[in-house]
Amino acid sequence: MTAMRERAAAATKPAVRWGVAHLLPRTLMTVAARRGDLQGRLIMASRGGDPFPLFEQLRAHGPLYRGRFAYLTTSLPLVREVLGSNDFRTGFDRTAIRGPLGKAFLWSTDDDLLGPLSPPSLLVTEPPDHTRYRKLVTRVFSVRAVDRLRGRVEQIAADLLDGLAADGTVDLVERYCALLPVTVIAEVLGVPESEQARVLAFGAAAAPSLDLGLSWRQFREVEGALAGFDRWLTAHLDALRRSPGDDLFSQLVAETEDGVGLTDRELKATAGLVLAAGFETTVNLLGNGTALLERHPDQLDRLRRDGELWPNAVDEILRIDPPVLLTGRTAVRDTEVAGRTITKGSLLTTILAAANRDPEVFDRPAEFDVARENAKEHVAFSAGRHYCLGAALARMEGEVGLRLLFERYPELTVLPGATRRSTRILRGYERLPVRLKG
Ligand code: HEM
Repeated sequence: MTAMRERAAAATKPAVRWGVAHLLPRTLMTVAARRGDLQGRLIMASRGGDPFPLFEQLRAHGPLYRGRFAYLTTSLPLVREVLGSNDFRTGFDRTAIRGPLGKAFLWSTDDDLLGPLSPPSLLVTEPPDHTRYRKLVTRVFSVRAVDRLRGRVEQIAADLLDGLAADGTVDLVERYCALLPVTVIAEVLGVPESEQARVLAFGAAAAPSLDLGLSWRQFREVEGALAGFDRWLTAHLDALRRSPGDDLFSQLVAETEDGVGLTDRELKATAGLVLAAGFETTVNLLGNGTALLERHPDQLDRLRRDGELWPNAVDEILRIDPPVLLTGRTAVRDTEVAGRTITKGSLLTTILAAANRDPEVFDRPAEFDVARENAKEHVAFSAGRHYCLGAALARMEGEVGLRLLFERYPELTVLPGATRRSTRILRGYERLPVRLKG
């Protein structure tokens, strides 16, 4: 009888999770969007569409917009203030949903399922745990450590570009933008080359896990991919336990064994996030950067005349077409933002992509200018405690990847048929067909 009950619960829980976390918000957002609520319209806007006009509508309401379900800000100083504040934390308090719905949600939650937005992922933990996890992985991604990887990244990029030489027309995302970051992060972390295709497939299937309002089919695919990734990680870390290498995962495994590092679950969450974050976003930087530079031959010419501008150009690409559009925080106590009282438990969405075009900070904000003096002031890597761990690595991969691509194929042309990914928070190309030679 108990076994039957357990089986029935196991079958029902995913449906309840999806209903409360996706179907209900989607229904409420659709109604709110119809009534003109800009947050509803933002969330329901077509996937992969152009969200920038909506950001400007939000900005017209002032630095802080009160949506039906959360506050939203497009102001760069406010984004920094909120992300750096101790009055806010990441993640959503599951116990905040009251009544029978809240009870059903807590009952349905699968604590075993690891994901980027489930504790103990770095993204949704706060000090002291967050500090402990982050300390263990930080050193490998410092500016100095990343600088030592530059030669190897150049080699990987050159090899991939060599592989394209015989082809006239290619999907650049599939053949280059996706492969460069996954190869680099896999080497840093000690994932064998033979496993990279599987890891990429898990990443692609799990990417919508950051989004709200998924359909039942997408939700099942995402949960299936996260579970598959978890099984793969368990097996991979076990293999490193038996025969460690000279890589970050082996070091983390050894520290966990010593009992001073992480629990097994923390180890898997941290390793999984670093691996997935290491390639899921940089692919978008490379794709968005290629498309932008191809559309602006004058800017590409400037880079040809002055190669020193490349690092700045990468920041300008991140500013104007960032791979992560937004993030959010929950107020942990009553607090004040832009002169308004934000009550404990309120959600505040910080729209990174809109802050990057704040006219109070950036002159001619919608213009792409690789020599822009303050391009680096963008918040594409977030700010505060959760500032992107891989920012130095991503910047270097963006610079090397784009520079070598345009040096090797100066006549590269984007062909019709480019499509954006269907994710809402991550923004990049799904397909970017290009002709390599004139
Ligand atoms: C262009 C590429 C990238 C972009 C735009 C990007 C963006 C971001 C953003 C916006 C956050 C913070 C989210 C928040 O505040 O809620 C973040 C966090 C993070 N990123 Fe990146 N990222 C990129 C590449 C990388 C790479 C290459 C790695 C590999 C090490 C990485 C690892 C992480 C990790 C581990 C976190 C969590 C940090 C924490 O919560 O303390 N990212 N990233």
